[in-house]
This record gives sequence, structure tokens and C-alpha cells, in this order.
Amino acid sequence: MTLKLLKAPSQNSGYLGKDDMHRRQLLALAATASAQLISGAPKKDMIVRAARPEDLEMTLPNFRHAITPIENFFVRSHHYVPKVELNDWRLAISGQVTTPATFTMADLKKMPRVELVSVLECAGNGRALYEATVPGLQWEYGAVGNGRWAGVRLADVLRRCGIKQPAIEVLFDGADVPIGKMPEFKRTVPLNKALHPDTILAYEMNGEELPVAHGFPLRLIAPGWAGDSWVKWVTKIEVLDKEFDGFFMKTAYRHPGKNVSPGSAVDPAKMSPLTSLRIKSVIASHQDGAVVPLGPIKLWGVAWSGESPLSAVEVSTDNGRSWRPAAVRASGGKYGWSQWSYEWKPGQEAYYQVMARARSAGGDSQPFVPEWNPSGYAHNAVPTVGIDVANTPPASGLKPANPALTEPPAEFKSTCMVCHGSDVIEQQRLTRGQWEREVDKMVRWGADVKPEFRSQLVDFLSNRWGIRPRK
Ligand code: HEC
Repeated sequence: MTLKLLKAPSQNSGYLGKDDMHRRQLLALAATASAQLISGAPKKDMIVRAARPEDLEMTLPNFRHAITPIENFFVRSHHYVPKVELNDWRLAISGQVTTPATFTMADLKKMPRVELVSVLECAGNGRALYEATVPGLQWEYGAVGNGRWAGVRLADVLRRCGIKQPAIEVLFDGADVPIGKMPEFKRTVPLNKALHPDTILAYEMNGEELPVAHGFPLRLIAPGWAGDSWVKWVTKIEVLDKEFDGFFMKTAYRHPGKNVSPGSAVDPAKMSPLTSLRIKSVIASHQDGAVVPLGPIKLWGVAWSGESPLSAVEVSTDNGRSWRPAAVRASGGKYGWSQWSYEWKPGQEAYYQVMARARSAGGDSQPFVPEWNPSGYAHNAVPTVGIDVANTPPASGLKPANPALTEPPAEFKSTCMVCHGSDVIEQQRLTRGQWEREVDKMVRWGADVKPEFRSQLVDFLSNRWGIRPRK
């Protein structure tokens, strides 16, 4: 198979090239130009967490859709997007099977078609909301979407090849190619999840051919599970009789399964892979700090609960003292999200802390305090939005970023701007220790950090992008 990397957005535009363009037009374009994408038409309204490889977050207003439109659906890419030619593409099944086989897309489309709605949420969604900061993409609320997925049951494909008795898990590999010395993005799911009738290999999203940013031509759909299991651009599936020990199973995407003290490191061997999504609600109608006039206010958002159906959403407008049920409308099966709304009549001009809390049929609900873990996964604390019901202009509640600025050392660009831009670095707010660990990780992935330059580099990074001042 030939794999061609698509051009990075910085190289493909020519879009802002006209010298005579009026400054105001330039400003208006700047917001969307950064969302000129390698993988399709320009997308509006997306928060670009990284332009290359592409990581895009959905904005709050787009939570209004029952099914998230493809153009608003978040994108998470570990590596650059591979260009797959359908004619050359094959799905190869190997490992603990009686008859290893390869399938073309036409072969798969002859098998029974299954369609389901499921939330897809990035494991790191909400990472930016942990008060003790965590390295990684600083997702807030929108690394999640509700998609309608169609394809074939994974179990149907595997059973065609005959699963052998010692099988315990199934390994998925995509056509994407690692950057530098970064490990390949390969993931396993346990055999019982792989054979579940709702686990599918999807070739369609929202009734359209699977878009390239979402894994064209084939993506694993692990309904109710975090996005790290939803491998994109699948080309190889291997049935294993022992636990896979690749980086993205044994080191990354692991959770301690208990509270650990904020800022600490935990040995990956003492953590477990992420599986089911946690119950969670989002308030999408208002941003924190919104100022609205006195009168009836409609609060709304969405909620979901992994593999156990959602049973209720409750709203508090008095800092969590009292709770009232919201109206809830499901949008597609037990794995889809539900939309909730609440008609609120604030009694007087005041600053209100509005909260939403979801409950599952299994009796689970959301914690009030985020449960910190070293990679900032699975954030599902009760969302709290401050709403100022008043006719006065907003007081700026935003705290300044760390003011201790220094100029970047000359080597910074040549050492760190090789595989990606400065955007992934600028969005971090880390302690010196966390920056040291980041730099060490980059060295392991192929960054050429001269030993005599390391400490100067870490000083600069932690001065410029140090921890946020406390709220
Ligand atoms: C050999 C290629 C390479 C070089 C050189 C490199 N990085 Fe990275 N870095 C990556 C890749 C690849 C990612 C994104 C991985 C992903 O999306 O999962 C990344 C991500 C990051 C992130 C985001 C947080 C994370 O851990 O995913 C930070 C911060 C970062 N790099 C800092 C740096 C700094 C500082 C330097 C210079 C010392 C540097 N990088 C040099 C490959 C590189």
C-alpha cells in the first residue's frame, strides 16, 4: 500500500496571500484560517488545539445538535493523516484464527450492515479543567460528539476467520505512520468487548462515507468506551493469546482507578487501561462568566453515561444546595447522548453558580470535585457555570497568564519546532518538573536536545509557560 502524507495546513493555503487585503478582513479571516484543514473543506467554529497533527475541539454552541454534524465533530490525531486509496486498501486478519484472511471494502459491504448511535469522547476531554495542570492537549468540553456509525460487526468478521481458543484480546493497527521515533498507535480491546454485537467496524459516519479525519475507510467503534479504543484507518487486526505490550496500552491511556495526589507521577504498571466512559453532563447554553438580563433563562446541554443508560439530569442554580429535574430527550439508543433543558426564572439580579448533574440507571452520578490523575483523563466533575444576572457590563474575571516572560533561546526553534509547531507547547501550563518530563519524552521520541542546552530550555519553558496562578 502506498501512503502519502497530506500537506500540512501551513503549506496549503495561499488564502491570506494578497498584500492588498484590508486589515479588518484579515482579522475576520484569521479566526477561521487556522481551521483550514488538511482533511477536507474549511471548517468553521472549531477550536484548533493543534494544527499539525490535527486536533480540533467543538465549541459549546454546537452541543445543540442531537447528532453532531461531521463539520463540528472533534478530531484527535496522534500522527499525520494517512492518504488511503480504497483500491489498494485491505483489511488483514491474523493471529489466533484458523484461517487468516484479507477483506476488501466490497467484501465487508456484502456482510450484514449494522448502524448505531454512540458518543465518541476523547479520554483527555476536560484535561484543561484540572486545577493541578497536566501535560497534553488542553481540551475543555468539546473533545466529544454524538455520531451515527454504520458498518459490520467485528464479531462477524472475526468469526469468518475462526477464533482459536487461547484468544484473549484483539489488536488494531491503522495506516497512520508514527512521527519521528514515536511509537506506533496500536490498541487492543479485550475479546468480550470485541465480540459484543454492538462493536463494529464502521465505514459510514452520519450516513456519509467515513471522512478521512475520522479514519477513512474503516474505524473501530467501541460504543460506550473512551476514544483511545476507536482506532482509525484500520488495516490490520490481530487476535492475541497474550496481553499486548505496546506503548499505547502499557504506558499511555492508563488510569490509576483511585484518587492520587495532584501533580504526582504513578507507575504505569500500577494503572489500568481506560475502558468505559464515565457519566458526564455539559452545560452548553452559557459560558462561565456570562452576563444576562433579569428574566426567564433557558439552560441546556447534553449528558451521557457510557455503557449504562442515563436516568436523569438535575440542575442547581444555588451553588448545589437544591436540585430540580431537567427535561431530558434521548437521541439514539443507550450509547448516544441525551439533550437536557431547564426553564429557569432567577428571582433577582445576582451572580449564580449553575450546575448540572447526571444520574445513570446503574445509580452512578458525577463527583463534585475532579478526580485528578497523571494524564488528566476521564474528567467528569459536575460542570459549574457562573452566570451574572445583571444589566451591568461584565467585570473581567480572567486572571493574567504567568507574566514572567523571557525570550526564547536561539536553539528553541531548531530543537522543538521540528515535528510540530509552537501551538502544542504554548497551550501548556506546567511546573518545572513537568517540563523536564516533557522534554525527556520528546527526546525519547526523537528530539535532538543538546545536554548543555537542556537546563536553559527547561528554564525558558517553565518561565514562559509555567503553572497558572490559583483561581
Ligand atoms: C521527533 C519529533 C518531535 C520533536 C523534535 C519534538 N516533539 Fe513534541 N511532540 C511530538 C509529537 C509527535 C507530539 C504529539 C503526540 C500526540 O499527539 O500524541 C508532540 C507533542 C508535544 C507536546 C504536547 C503534549 C504531549 O506530550 O503530547 C509538547 C508540550 C511538546 N511536544 C513539546 C516539545 C518540546 C518542548 C520539544 C523540544 C524539546 C519538542 N516537543 C520536540 C514530536 C516531537
